[in-house]
Amino acid sequence: MMSANTPIIVALDFANSNVALRLAEQLSPTQCRLKVGKELFTSAGPAIVEKLQAKGFEIFLDLKFHDIPNTVAKAVKAAANLGVWMTNVHASGGEEMLQAAANTLSSESSSTKLIAVTVLTSMSQTQWQQLGHQDTIKDSVKKWAISAQSAGLDGVVCSAQEASMIKSVTSTDFLTVTPGIRPLNSSSDDQSRIMTPNKALENSSDFLVIGRPITQAENPAKTLASIYQQLPL
Ligand code: C5P
Repeated sequence: MMSANTPIIVALDFANSNVALRLAEQLSPTQCRLKVGKELFTSAGPAIVEKLQAKGFEIFLDLKFHDIPNTVAKAVKAAANLGVWMTNVHASGGEEMLQAAANTLSSESSSTKLIAVTVLTSMSQTQWQQLGHQDTIKDSVKKWAISAQSAGLDGVVCSAQEASMIKSVTSTDFLTVTPGIRPLNSSSDDQSRIMTPNKALENSSDFLVIGRPITQAENPAKTLASIYQQLPL
């Protein structure tokens, strides 16, 4: 597998293995890593991860585990056994759950990076309040990032708008992985807290998760290449 020098992670949000592989064939592991999420993993299973790895891609297995600590720890261990580059859990599962997940990786000396989802980027402040939260999104994100770092995780999934604020309350090597990235002139789809790739990097985002702007493009390879070339790397 290549160790890609790229901040771009392309979200392969597809219904089955064939479509995902067809897209992966058009992309280069030097320009992006790939994210396998709930839809693709549920339909295609670990085999799709192995097939993509065989093409040289590093994989972010985005299953956002959230359950009792023991169950999450075992799920994270199973992900690490697949040799994925990164996987994740929900920070709202609580510090004990985060610690159990982080401990299982460190006890195996696994190189899989573990990150915590703070508040989904599709969530707006109004929706957040309707759920009964008293804190603002920003305060919850801050609180969960601090708790993820003290539990031993490698970083968080957050909005690019929150990345520099997170770095200010954690250490600079604590990773910020940011979905909700939209190149200029592309549709925002169902995302609320969005940013362009360059702005996200300027705002201390370490990795940019980009789905539909690339996967639904007429020419995904060209779109990825043009975003990649515009990055201040
Ligand atoms: O198509 P789009 O660029 O919106 O895809 C974003 C990807 O990032 C999706 O796979 C979505 O599940 C994921 N994601 C997100 N917000 C989070 C965590 C993950 O949008 N907080």
